[in-house]
Amino acid sequence: MEWKTQFTPEEVAELLERGVGFGVLDVRNEEEFRRWRLEGPNTPQTLHIPYFEALEDEEAFVSRVEAELGRGPILAICAKGGSSDWIAQEILRPRGFQVANMIGGMEAWGSSYRIRLLPESKQDTVRIWQLDRFGRGCLHYVVASEGEAILIDPPRHIERVLELLSREGLQIRAILDTHAHADHISGGPALAERTGAPYYLHPYDGIHPIDVLPAQIPFAFLQEGMRFSVGSAALDVLHIPGHTLGNTAFLLQGQKRYLFTGDSLFIQSVARPDLGGRGEAWAPLHFRSLRRLLHLPADTIVLPGHYASAAREQRADGLFAAPLGELLRSNPDLALQEEEAFVSYILAHLPEFPPQYVDIKRVNAGLLRLDEEGLNELELGKNVCALSGAYTTS
Ligand SMILES: [Fe+2]
Repeated sequence: MEWKTQFTPEEVAELLERGVGFGVLDVRNEEEFRRWRLEGPNTPQTLHIPYFEALEDEEAFVSRVEAELGRGPILAICAKGGSSDWIAQEILRPRGFQVANMIGGMEAWGSSYRIRLLPESKQDTVRIWQLDRFGRGCLHYVVASEGEAILIDPPRHIERVLELLSREGLQIRAILDTHAHADHISGGPALAERTGAPYYLHPYDGIHPIDVLPAQIPFAFLQEGMRFSVGSAALDVLHIPGHTLGNTAFLLQGQKRYLFTGDSLFIQSVARPDLGGRGEAWAPLHFRSLRRLLHLPADTIVLPGHYASAAREQRADGLFAAPLGELLRSNPDLALQEEEAFVSYILAHLPEFPPQYVDIKRVNAGLLRLDEEGLNELELGKNVCALSGAYTTS
């Protein structure tokens, strides 16, 4: 294929999915590189050389690039797309390297989406779109039937959601968050303000677990047993505490059954008990909640809120979805059938939670207000929502 001089993050994600071969030259500083990297279903070979090394000794820099990545094709990346562009244009391309810059750098990589219609839903009376924020491994959903839509865990970049709704001619009936998120900023309150549709959250998650302060945003209460109608379909609320106390899942009954699991059950793992240092108290709840989900019919299609590894969890058609019966066979975290063993396993594998998660939850509760720059800073990096045992960087 023709190697351009620049690619958008969406184009890069597509190249990775198609298995197009290229090397990555990452020129961010050490700390930024350690925090997160460009990954995908086919993660490319990555060479990390901080930008300042190119300034200090240009020839040594060029020889290292050539020794490790050859003369291309190479994708140069940095934090915001400026210094990598300079290196591509001023240093490598004049020397004959086939090198492209990723527009907007890792900040744009973390704020980009691929939107896919779940093919199973094409024959159904409902249609389901999965919005994949691929740089962070976050999944968001639009569920539609007969011109109406329900949003599940909508992302911070609400324009992407509004574009989809207007393109498909859909009216929002309700905006639901499966729980108060700690890893990303919810678009729920902003969408409610913009569209007038009600925003729903379980009341237990309306209290910040560290500050123990009530949320300062308007929201209606989600409750076990509530039913939302969307066109000819119905969406039932299941209260499944464990990841958070107010954690919920949504069961959609169209011609098929779809389960939006948020942060409970993932394709290759289960969620961690979230924040608050309440692992001992919350892990048994988590076990019972997961068992409850696992008793649903085996053909129920699970649509999770996150993934840790596209290479291991993404289907050939790009979606993250699997029938419950298949997860029972393939998800290693579901093998533990006894509560005690499951709880010990969870407590032994708790990942550290990034310190910015406390502030993300404050933003989501309306307890902290930040400008765009501050929000970008908080959301940098990949989600750490699955147990560490299943979390990999490939
Ligand atoms: Fe979460």
